[in-house]
Amino acid sequence: MLKTHTCGALKLEHVGSTVTLAGWVNRRRDHGGLIFIDLRDRFGMTQVTIDSDQTAAHDVAAQVRGEYVVQVTGKVAARPEGLRNPNLSTGDIEVLAETVTILNTAKTPPFYIAGNADEVDETLRLKYRYLDIRRPRMAQNLVLRHQIVRQIREYFSARDFVEIETPILLKSTPEGARDFVVPSRLRPGEFYALPQSPQQLKQLLMVAGMERYFQIARCFRDEDLRADRQLEFTQLDLEMSFVDADDIRAMIEPLLIELSGAILPHKRIQTLPFPVITYADAVEFYGIDRPDLRFGQRLFNLTDLGAASAFGVFKSAAESGGAIKGVVFPGGNALSRREIDELTDFVKHYDAKGLVWIGVTGEADAAGHYPAESLRSQVTKFLTPAEIDAIVTRSAAKAGDLILIVADKLAVVNQSLANLRLEIGRRAGLIDPNLLAYCWVVDFPLLEYNEDENRWQAVHHPFTSARDEDWARLESDPGSVLAKAYDVVLNGWEIGGGSIRIHRSDLQDRLFTRLGMTPEQTQAQFGHLLEAFQYGAPPHGGIALGIDRLVALFAEATSIRDVIAFPKTAAGTDLMLDSPCPITDAQLAELSIAVRLAKK
Ligand code: AMO
Ligand code: AMP
Repeated sequence: MLKTHTCGALKLEHVGSTVTLAGWVNRRRDHGGLIFIDLRDRFGMTQVTIDSDQTAAHDVAAQVRGEYVVQVTGKVAARPEGLRNPNLSTGDIEVLAETVTILNTAKTPPFYIAGNADEVDETLRLKYRYLDIRRPRMAQNLVLRHQIVRQIREYFSARDFVEIETPILLKSTPEGARDFVVPSRLRPGEFYALPQSPQQLKQLLMVAGMERYFQIARCFRDEDLRADRQLEFTQLDLEMSFVDADDIRAMIEPLLIELSGAILPHKRIQTLPFPVITYADAVEFYGIDRPDLRFGQRLFNLTDLGAASAFGVFKSAAESGGAIKGVVFPGGNALSRREIDELTDFVKHYDAKGLVWIGVTGEADAAGHYPAESLRSQVTKFLTPAEIDAIVTRSAAKAGDLILIVADKLAVVNQSLANLRLEIGRRAGLIDPNLLAYCWVVDFPLLEYNEDENRWQAVHHPFTSARDEDWARLESDPGSVLAKAYDVVLNGWEIGGGSIRIHRSDLQDRLFTRLGMTPEQTQAQFGHLLEAFQYGAPPHGGIALGIDRLVALFAEATSIRDVIAFPKTAAGTDLMLDSPCPITDAQLAELSIAVRLAKK
């Protein structure tokens, strides 16, 4: 090794010993007679002091610049009292250099490595990712990711799971996104698809009798990117035979508790065991199937009041089959008109046409009614006293609160209020940053109607089983069929999802038919699965956790890009490698591919 110690290792106990360090120059300070170099490596930082008495070393030190790669040999000395740095693991000592060697020079980096990443443009960070990762924050995120994956591997290995690799060159695996395809040179005109997940293969491993499989699996989905989505991402993927939904939850929940305790010991898991919420309740009370349970502010429902109301906004929503729901901003009556208008603009981003607001300024009268002077609103004049009482009662608002209501199509109401609730959580400071609010969401619908394509499609994927008692309604009332599916949610992020699968060929066939597939299509796409199920497929189920999301939450990163070494931009590009990019005509010819670009 070119070093005897790391830059994070030396302490008072090393005083007097001769050591060799190597790393990058974080900063050099030249005080004439004395030169100080803060030498950095992955493990920390050590102050190196070069006295002008050490002529050769001093001459070399005078030439080094930031990010030069330098090797230093010298004696460890205690820093004088008063010059110790308690923020540094090596802050009690310094190394008095005897030799300094430049192992490599460096151009001035495009951003200051030791600086605050938030101040650096992300496109620059992605273009020079190797410098970005040199920054302690990014390096720590990658180390954390490694620790999490290692703990996951140990957890499942200790429970008789076998880690099995599945192919990347695969066939279309429907998970609801577009496939990435790879042309076959040997079979011109034919294509592999990259796995959206190893879903079918892990089910086939259950037919094969492996019983307990897991994999840290790379998945590829051609979908629109967001802060929590990448084109390629990593799942902890697992499958078990002879299990129910409860068994899968009982396998995953202790893992998440163990990881939380190991990585975030200062944080508290809000509720144990994790609350189990039905999809219907999640949408009713939080407007979304991944509720952030770190705070309350559940939505309340006024839809039933709409039809009879004289208030046009309520009446027209109810008459067109929509909904009227609301949420309370605690203490929100103190907001100015401008701030309330900002909230109205906020919900308009989610297609809401407006926001009804009612400030509760005072108390109810002796009879429990809210007189006009106890409310601040522009719309109470359109509402009857009974309607006002119902609104205030159902909202459970107190004096000082602000009641906020949206009337619209149900999907718009839920989406806008789900986001407004989070905004209220942030603005009113309701979110305790030290809480980990996990929950399970269960009883998802099996199918949803795709209006554009005029057909039913699987909510999760088409291998998910209906609840036993619901199969009878698959043809007659498909929208009412609930699935044996479950998601696990942490602080409002969907970190995992899975289901108990169909393991009978006849039921799988019936579902494909319900999804509008012809027998020929079924055979071409899924013949292998239907056939496999005829050779003694055991009951089975599983789940996949999004590793990137889990690590991002544990690292308190705002985007999964911050926990991926080489992520893609929101436009799906790699700025460092400049990919995707054209390939040569020779490569295209070999693949029997002609490129036809649509005219702009
Ligand atoms: P699902 O599609 O729900 O299930 O994916 C499981 C988890 O993977 C994460 N995830 C993503 N993370 C980053 N970028 C993406 N584009 C992305 N898409 C999904 C999420 C999600 O909860 N085969 C099933 C699992 C099963 O049924 O066992 C599946 O893939 O955290
Ligand atoms: P308008 O009738 O458009 O003047 O709106 C009166 C009030 O109702 C305003 O505060 C609007 O923001 C609000 N509003 C309008 N449409 C809706 C709606 N669909 N849901 C909730 N509030 C609305």
